[in-house]
Amino acid sequence: IAHRGFKEKYPENTLVAFQAAMNAGAQMLELDVTFSCDRKLVVIHDETLERTTNGRGAVNDYTMERLKQLDAGSWFSEAFAGEPIPALEEVLKTFGGRVRLNLEIKAFDAGVAVIELLQRYPDAESVVSSFNWRLLERLRTTDDSLPIAVLFAAGNWRHAVRLAVGLRSVAFHPEAGQVGRSMITACRQAQLPVYAWSVDDPVRAKSLLRAGVNGLFTKDPLALRGVV
Ligand code: G3P
Ligand code: CA
Repeated sequence: IAHRGFKEKYPENTLVAFQAAMNAGAQMLELDVTFSCDRKLVVIHDETLERTTNGRGAVNDYTMERLKQLDAGSWFSEAFAGEPIPALEEVLKTFGGRVRLNLEIKAFDAGVAVIELLQRYPDAESVVSSFNWRLLERLRTTDDSLPIAVLFAAGNWRHAVRLAVGLRSVAFHPEAGQVGRSMITACRQAQLPVYAWSVDDPVRAKSLLRAGVNGLFTKDPLALRGVV
């Protein structure tokens, strides 16, 4: 699973990073989704623009039209100057039906809008994930058949797995350092595939896969292709 696209060699969460990840053999693209101030769905990780664009301030202070004028490539390399921030709809249009998508929702308010947009792109095979479990509960209430995955960073993993089962999740997404045999066993018993984030070292990847992890988020899908 390409974490924000092929972000080791391309600017994260851009169309060029997603295409490169596909070319490198990634079976799924992970991307971050939030809202612009005019309630359009936009693909960017941070709440603010400084790290990955030439803009300043909060993403949700900008309209989609203004966000589209920003440069989301130069911070990474001049070779990607002018690469724009994608709208989620562009990603669905470009990649839907070609590769699986993991939409990680960052803004609570954006959740229902993501469901509505996905309904217009039935060919896009998507999983919706979030660290915000209340949002996932709301999404399940809104859409009985939405494929949901629970993101887990730290804390009580048993509680998180129980929640994932209760939400009828299609997968459990723990931080890789949290993964252990007892977690893998519990998920297997619950018929929950485990996709761990984020793993870039092929040796570590091999060890996690041997332990029973079903998938890995990585910034370098090319480096992990041989292992998988
Ligand atoms: O989906 C796993 C991973 O993307 C979560 O962390 O900070 O990269 O969004 P982050
Ligand atoms: Ca993410």
